[in-house]
Amino acid sequence: MRLTSELASGYEEIDGQHRVMLDRMEALARAAQADDLAQAKEMLSALGDYLVSHFQAEESMMAETAYPERGRHKSAHDLFMQDFAQLGQELSGQGLSPPILAWIGTRLPEWLKFHIQVNDLPLGRYLASRHFRPAAAPRVDKPRAS
Ligand SMILES: [Fe+2]
Repeated sequence: MRLTSELASGYEEIDGQHRVMLDRMEALARAAQADDLAQAKEMLSALGDYLVSHFQAEESMMAETAYPERGRHKSAHDLFMQDFAQLGQELSGQGLSPPILAWIGTRLPEWLKFHIQVNDLPLGRYLASRHFRPAAAPRVDKPRAS
């Protein structure tokens, strides 16, 4: 899954983080398709770590700019992380079973795509329109313009 134009907000702080997030999701899906349980667990944990820092970055930008939809947006993150934690537990308990493969291959990418389109694109546009520069967001690996 790539950050195609339908998933790009034009606000690079968020779009750059989404690229990393989608790359990690792909790495997880590849490990699952290869039936490599150890690698799938490692990739799930790498994705989970990134999601936590990415969601925190969005939430702090929403708080700093008093974004009107921040309560609803944070609730979406919280609900997703509960679901994601359950995926981790079930992966540990049952391994790469057909329901887990469907979860990783379909439900997870669908949620991320839906969330980006419904919640993150409006947020990115709002931040871009305010020319907001985050103070504490994690750096995105990108060469600086000199
Ligand atoms: Fe978000």
